Amino acid sequence: MYGMVNRAIEDMVVSGYGQETWERVKEKAGFEDEVFVSTEAYPDELTYALVGAASSILKTPPADVLEAFGVYWVVKTAQEGYGDMMAAGGKTLGEFLENLPNFHSRVSMIFPHLSPPRFYCSDIKPNSIHMHYQSHRDGLAPFVVGLLKGLGQRFSTPMTVEQIASKSAGADHDEFIVRW
Ligand code: HEM
Repeated sequence: MYGMVNRAIEDMVVSGYGQETWERVKEKAGFEDEVFVSTEAYPDELTYALVGAASSILKTPPADVLEAFGVYWVVKTAQEGYGDMMAAGGKTLGEFLENLPNFHSRVSMIFPHLSPPRFYCSDIKPNSIHMHYQSHRDGLAPFVVGLLKGLGQRFSTPMTVEQIASKSAGADHDEFIVRW
């Protein structure tokens, strides 16, 4: 994944737990460079290793680290670095979710080697949406839960996320019902 993802994990750990904790996470994950270059592609294994190292050092399950990272990504990383793109995504939670399937095509214009997730919606109602998530990567459903909750925070809209199908349990892909 592009370095901006690893960099955002770094920002989240440093802002929550300090530089020294981050140095331990980095070391445990086996990353020896000083910094991540946002626009450079890194192996996915490194991102998974950072999450695993943060999980063991913070004594927090990996799924919880990923969920917290999803919230952080929307509320901090995307807002501070790509505010215009986020603003173009929609003015309400419902609108943003309906537009989510097209979101990364705009991101791909800046990051041409992006290997983005695929989202699609079914059963769109005034206060709920059925969101499908497909990826060639495994294990990122908790990240999606955090991203969706982060969008709830972005729009100050109380909401819930229920996962109704899980790739890790054998389903074809992950599915969520978002209600607000
Ligand atoms: C301006 C805001 C955003 C930017 C710049 C962005 C960019 C990226 C980048 C660079 C990756 C790594 C993929 C790669 O390097 O090949 C990624 C992955 C991902 N993004 Fe976004 N993204 C944004 C917003 C969102 C939002 C709002 C959501 C969902 C609510 C989302 C969901 C995901 C997911 C689930 C992945 C993991 C990849 C996978 O599932 O295979 N992103 N994004």
